[in-house]
Amino acid sequence: MSDKNTKNEKMEAIVSLAKRRGFIYQGSEVYGGLSGTWDYGPLGVALKRNIMNLWWKMFVEDREDMYGVDAAILMNQKVWKASGHVDTFTDPLVEDLDTKQRFRADHLLKDAGFEVDGLSLDDMTTLIHENDVKSPNGNSLSDVRTFNMMFKTTVGPVEDENSISYLRPETAQGIFTNYRNVVDSFYPDLPFGVAQQGKAFRNEISPRDFIFRSREFEQMEIEYFIDPANWETEFNNWVALVHEWTNALGLPAENVHELEVPDADRAHYSKRTIDFEFDFPIGREELLGLAYRGSFDLDNIQRDAGKNMAYVVKGTNTKFIPHVIEPSFGVERALMAVLSASYTEDEVNGEKRVFLKLPEHLAPIKYAVSPLLKNKPELVVKAREVYAILKKKYGNVMWDDNGNIGKRYRRQDEIGTPYCVVIDFDTLEDNTVTIRERDTTEQKRVAISEL
Ligand code: GAP
Repeated sequence: MSDKNTKNEKMEAIVSLAKRRGFIYQGSEVYGGLSGTWDYGPLGVALKRNIMNLWWKMFVEDREDMYGVDAAILMNQKVWKASGHVDTFTDPLVEDLDTKQRFRADHLLKDAGFEVDGLSLDDMTTLIHENDVKSPNGNSLSDVRTFNMMFKTTVGPVEDENSISYLRPETAQGIFTNYRNVVDSFYPDLPFGVAQQGKAFRNEISPRDFIFRSREFEQMEIEYFIDPANWETEFNNWVALVHEWTNALGLPAENVHELEVPDADRAHYSKRTIDFEFDFPIGREELLGLAYRGSFDLDNIQRDAGKNMAYVVKGTNTKFIPHVIEPSFGVERALMAVLSASYTEDEVNGEKRVFLKLPEHLAPIKYAVSPLLKNKPELVVKAREVYAILKKKYGNVMWDDNGNIGKRYRRQDEIGTPYCVVIDFDTLEDNTVTIRERDTTEQKRVAISEL
């Protein structure tokens, strides 16, 4: 079997597990779905929150130089004109001339084996026509044109030019528009960062690869405001911090790669951008980005809003518009990387076993508690006591008395529960329980008081 097929099989196994075990469902599934949208089930939302809380703790709570914000999703349309999104937040679109279905031109060319980095729309059109590249339906394709990915809407009861707004395509602009507020309220020393987590929306031409490319997703972004003289040192600090983050997610270092984005592909205001890529089962793809944005965004706000964005260095007359390093993390990509890295198949007692080797601090359920036999009231009562103790202590503890003990272990393995605690007749005598470890399947006896 080819490597590609094996990888797709792994991806399919993850998607199927995610659905079956209550992590991630297709959005609006009962009505036939809505392409590019996903709903999180009880375990998915727990895993996602664990990832987002870990990020918030690591980058906001544990630091002295970070300020959190939570800006509105709908913003004044001037934000998106000043940022350049209205004019340039586009993807190259191409149409199947028979079915009128639309596709990302660069994706079709890449799938056909062409190098697409740095190609203009005309270059792509020429490549498609000269090489007779077809749509996935086998039909001829149109010329390539741009397609703006922002979801447009109107705010208020009157629909006219002035009421146009957009669902934000990135959380970053909600940070830049609050830069002045944070400086005025807190007057932090440079460098300092403003962080935000929240939904972002992009009308992707062809959402694909499970949650990897969605139309509604979440970002965790930081704008780190710096003295321009120090940009290289600050950028390098962030490279190291990104690796700390991928390590905290439990991603093997050898599967995380830095891609220096070449001059031709970088935004004109950026002196350096690194895409951090991960070896997903679908191939090596972007996990998150780190960009040096200069003073592009604050300059735009100063120009278009007419507000002073300069920072005055405390106790001096030195004033300048700070520059910005922007680490931008996608929650869905982090989650998909965590699932991909933790999905494991092995053999236990001659039987195939599937388990999620999730880091303990990310696992949606930390302990599952069971009575050995569910028809023995004395065991159930004792098990309920142990469950109540652990639930109070950890919160993410599950009661599981379905099926025999072997089946319970398999079920908990599949959702990545690190420990299963079983109450049996010995427990009634000596207050010890069996604790079974997910990765090794080893079991040992411990006192309830030691759990
Ligand atoms: N503020 C900069 C910015 O938004 P980006 O590279 O367009 O940069 C940052 O997006 C991150 O957001 C990506 O690295 C990825 O993790 C995530 N992301 C972008 N588009 C996405 C999509 N359609 N679905 C899921 N995640 C996405």
